Amino acid sequence: MNIIIAKDYKEMSQVASQMIEDQMTKRPDAVLGLATGGTPLGTYKELINSYKEGRTDYRLLSTINLDEYVGLDPEHHQSYRYFMNQNLFQSINIDKKNTYIPFGKAEELEQECRRYEEVIDTIGPPDLQLLGIGENGHIGFNEPGTSFDSETHIVNLTDSTREANARFFESMEDVPTKAITMGIRSILKSRKIILLASGDRKADAIYQLLHGETDEDFPASSLKSHHDLTLIVDEDAYKKV
Ligand code: GLP
Repeated sequence: MNIIIAKDYKEMSQVASQMIEDQMTKRPDAVLGLATGGTPLGTYKELINSYKEGRTDYRLLSTINLDEYVGLDPEHHQSYRYFMNQNLFQSINIDKKNTYIPFGKAEELEQECRRYEEVIDTIGPPDLQLLGIGENGHIGFNEPGTSFDSETHIVNLTDSTREANARFFESMEDVPTKAITMGIRSILKSRKIILLASGDRKADAIYQLLHGETDEDFPASSLKSHHDLTLIVDEDAYKKV
């Protein structure tokens, strides 16, 4: 594992966006695996700036997102499709049909999971996967206890994950109880993985990642078996290590 310790959130975001740009320079038709949540927002801002300055071109690029809430329409303001449109896709020249996110309103959810895993295998796997980490070590929406052999599947969100995400919703009752997520095995198919963590809230999870056992009770520990993992962490998230 490569570890890069950034001074703060801004520097973490700049380092991550530079790595993504380098990947795009190497391969303009790269496939990027993208994440939602507060953590990658700064990275997306940096990518938008670099696009506006003419340093990047997304015409040939494809993206595959990690997860989506079950039951939310793509237009719903809390859906991850909406999040990606608002925070990245609408500000760059990517072709929307090359952006993949699970469809949370699918009638046959199991079938949607299989379809999505096929997307990962045919369009992907991502050349570079960007990841955040939950306070309980979840990646995507793979909660503690998820098998390391899992592919795209439906999950029941834990109360702690719903509480952590409630800040984006009007009330706790509005937070969906289920999601579709790429599995651990699906995520590990990526050629390169960047894991981002920022702030005090993530300090315990980063300590556990670096000092704890590899164990299904801590999903992020699965990443330690990957041959090309870079952890970009700011000083606050690294302070307990
Ligand atoms: C959600 C997402 C994850 C994300 C996590 C952490 O549960 N499904 O992909 O990594 O939250 O979010 P944040 O970056 O806001 O701390």
